[in-house]
Amino acid sequence: MTLDDLFSAERPLEKWNLQGFHGAPVFLFPEIGSTNHWMKERWTENSHGSIALADQQNSGRGRFQRVWRSPAGKNIYLSLLLKPETIPLTQWAHLTQVAAITLAKFFEEIGLPVHVKWPNDILFQGKKMCGILSERISRGGSSGLVLGMGININSTPEDFEGLDRLASSLRIELGRPVNREVFLQEFLNRLEIAFKDFESTGIEPWLTAWRGMKNFFGSPARLVQVDQVTEGIIQDICPDGSLLFLPDGQSIPIVIYSGDLEI
Ligand code: BTN
Repeated sequence: MTLDDLFSAERPLEKWNLQGFHGAPVFLFPEIGSTNHWMKERWTENSHGSIALADQQNSGRGRFQRVWRSPAGKNIYLSLLLKPETIPLTQWAHLTQVAAITLAKFFEEIGLPVHVKWPNDILFQGKKMCGILSERISRGGSSGLVLGMGININSTPEDFEGLDRLASSLRIELGRPVNREVFLQEFLNRLEIAFKDFESTGIEPWLTAWRGMKNFFGSPARLVQVDQVTEGIIQDICPDGSLLFLPDGQSIPIVIYSGDLEI
């Protein structure tokens, strides 16, 4: 890929030529409720690496049941189905972090040095560029993971009006529209390799890469868990992917498995 490809004119959605992992299908939707919802309804019949991709979502959802704005013709809304047979269930949460770190590295490659905010938000100068909602599903003896990613590619500032958090898009930050098909195929290529690497190396090198890129370690933050808010300092990521957080006024950090950080 050259940067020219990335900034080339986009083809109509029905012509996009994308492949999931190991040649698994990509289901393209001009409009859908939520790609995560669609994939969760069909995970048993779809193969590992299949992808649902929409041009527009009418009821896109984020973490904690938040609405994920999904206007038509602008961004990437995808759900990747994973059935990782060789990875122990206890390590599945890492797949989401590997995906976030891989996307952050790709953003860096194309000129945008982003932060990965625990657990898996991608921010540029405090503005959200991507959110990931991963949902585990099980039936009988088998399980799967639906990794839902909303990547802000070509949204313009009006798309974010009235949001309670800062958000931005590649188009806004790079100053020109980005070809979503090229972006996505390049990202999926990198992600497939990243998951293979993770299977052999485990999470540690990924956490090292996370620590090496822009991050919020050492920054003050508000930790929001259900209706409880704790102010403190973000310390580090633990080997199991949880967060080490030092509440103000305490001397021993606590380990956080679920919650949201406001920087
Ligand atoms: C978050 O940051 O809260 C996660 C946002 C995840 C949004 C994506 S868009 C594709 C997929 N379908 C959904 O309904 N949600 C995820």
